[in-house]
Amino acid sequence: MEPIDKNLFGKDLICTQDWAFEDLLKVLDLAEEMKANRFEHPYSNSLRNRTFFMFFYNPSVRTRQSFECAATELGGHAQFLEPKAMRLKTATTAGETIEDAAKVMSRYAVGIGIRILEDKISAYGEGDALLKEYAYWADIPIVNMADDKFHPCQGLADIMGLRRNLGKDLRKKRLLMVWGHGALARSWCSVQENLLISSRFGMDVTLAYPEGYDLDPEVIEAVRENCRKNNADFSTIHDPYEGYQDADVVYCRNWMSPQAYRNGEFDKQGEIEKALKYPEWICDAQKMKLTRGGKGLFIHPMPVDRGHEVTDEVASGPNSIIYEVAENRLHVQKAIMALTMGIRQK
Ligand code: CP
Repeated sequence: MEPIDKNLFGKDLICTQDWAFEDLLKVLDLAEEMKANRFEHPYSNSLRNRTFFMFFYNPSVRTRQSFECAATELGGHAQFLEPKAMRLKTATTAGETIEDAAKVMSRYAVGIGIRILEDKISAYGEGDALLKEYAYWADIPIVNMADDKFHPCQGLADIMGLRRNLGKDLRKKRLLMVWGHGALARSWCSVQENLLISSRFGMDVTLAYPEGYDLDPEVIEAVRENCRKNNADFSTIHDPYEGYQDADVVYCRNWMSPQAYRNGEFDKQGEIEKALKYPEWICDAQKMKLTRGGKGLFIHPMPVDRGHEVTDEVASGPNSIIYEVAENRLHVQKAIMALTMGIRQK
């Protein structure tokens, strides 16, 4: 039984920042191969007879469907799990510990994906901590399917889309990461992951948001450090227009404020009401005209809050790559699974 990649076999993926740059390139190169040769790739049976658990605390369109397709296309099976179908210990109820669950699950499957977002925790960071606890006890790789801090599969799909549209060398390409007003009160995971991986690839980063919408300071410090190592620019502004000037890429997404948790609960309604007070923070065609040559790419992890974060004209316009990036989720996840769980078939 020979792993496809001896170095990556068994490795967790909680955040792309934890992986060496060369290993991220390995995923992206393999994802490109798998996209080009979707059903006939030599690793198409690398999960044959094997099961991947998908453990969802929160709903999903892209993540569940793309992981399930990915497992099928690698010759394996993805099993959907949710907490209500298990008997796990919580802060208020007796039940099975993560140690026991992770050790037992490791005896059945070859990998576990976990999603836990903002409304299933009582304070920022708890979702990511839960994944790390599973990773500590499990003998098989844990793949982050989006927690409250990071979303590595999304970040890799984003970069795959940018490299296909802007060229493989993203150094000095200008990214505007801009807060969008919205009615969905999003966690920070997709945005923080994109900032981390874009800065690893040498992009100049402008982060724009209204006062009061700071992201995790430790993550921002890591982004700043990535930019410094790559001789790239990093700046933060609080203006809804300025950052569009000469941007190559605009990523407009709503995110919650640091005050989102009150009395141990996610205050979703309060966050929505607060966010809707900033209608000028929408990505529209007029602002996109300011981007490089008026042809800056629009990127978003989806689901899109159309009419709030972005207009239909931009989201469905010729420079939007949202569907291409959504498709890339499948290819990067196949690559991640093949490299961390896959076996060479004779
Ligand atoms: N981008 C993303 O993770 O989408 P879903 O929430 O639909 O899985």
